[in-house]
Amino acid sequence: MIGLFDSGLGGLTVVKEVWQQLPGYPVIYLGDTARLPYGTKPAELIRSWSRLNVDWLFNQGAEIVIIACHTASAWAFDLINQNSRRPVFGVITPGVRQALATTQNGRIGVIGTPGTIRSGIYQKKIKELDQSVQPYFQSCPLFVPIIEENWMERPGVREIAEEYLKPLVNQGIDTLILGCTHYPLMRGTIEQIVGQEVTIVDPAQAVVQEVKNFLIKNQELAQKIKRSREHRFCFSSQPYQAETISRLCLGQTIKTEVINDN
Ligand code: DGL
Repeated sequence: MIGLFDSGLGGLTVVKEVWQQLPGYPVIYLGDTARLPYGTKPAELIRSWSRLNVDWLFNQGAEIVIIACHTASAWAFDLINQNSRRPVFGVITPGVRQALATTQNGRIGVIGTPGTIRSGIYQKKIKELDQSVQPYFQSCPLFVPIIEENWMERPGVREIAEEYLKPLVNQGIDTLILGCTHYPLMRGTIEQIVGQEVTIVDPAQAVVQEVKNFLIKNQELAQKIKRSREHRFCFSSQPYQAETISRLCLGQTIKTEVINDN
């Protein structure tokens, strides 16, 4: 199975990518709903929860793990990856690579949770890969609760999104990284505000592409993953709005399992 974890339901946007790019590969998804939101919590907590989540997925039989959550990737990916004997993927570097390949004017905007933006990880990775690029950042703390409530089309939401996004547009960005698993669910509103001149990068596409390339080179592992049976969607507490969000992300409802051992 391909293991994925996120703080909640937002990571289903990454499952959607797995289903599109890697059909036939079963997934085991862990949404850490008991500890949601991650975006406002301290780094030490995110690191220890992320380690527990990755271990849990491997113990359940995942052969590889995607840390779908940006906040967890920001604070914990390097540490977990360095210490893991099994393949672990994070969303930050693949998203940055895609944005660098996209930008024409070297001005990239990044939106994310307060934790992701505060971590400075996007700044670090962008500068590591291309010194000449100028990144601009904005945390959007209201987006996650709006999306978890399925309030994306309600009055007032556009104005909130404008508050967050206009400063980035005014900096002349031509590329915008959606640095949170939830944000693709608000893509329509975001696109309307930033306009057609700005290309939106969803790192989910890039990380799943990276996993795909890895599996092409590791056929034995790929065949082993395919041998497991069905998809599993596990949560550390009963997820709120699971039906609505899973329909929006995956076009279908999911059978949820509540676990109590991570
Ligand atoms: N899914 C998280 C992320 O991608 C955001 C939600 C939260 O704050 O827990 O960063």
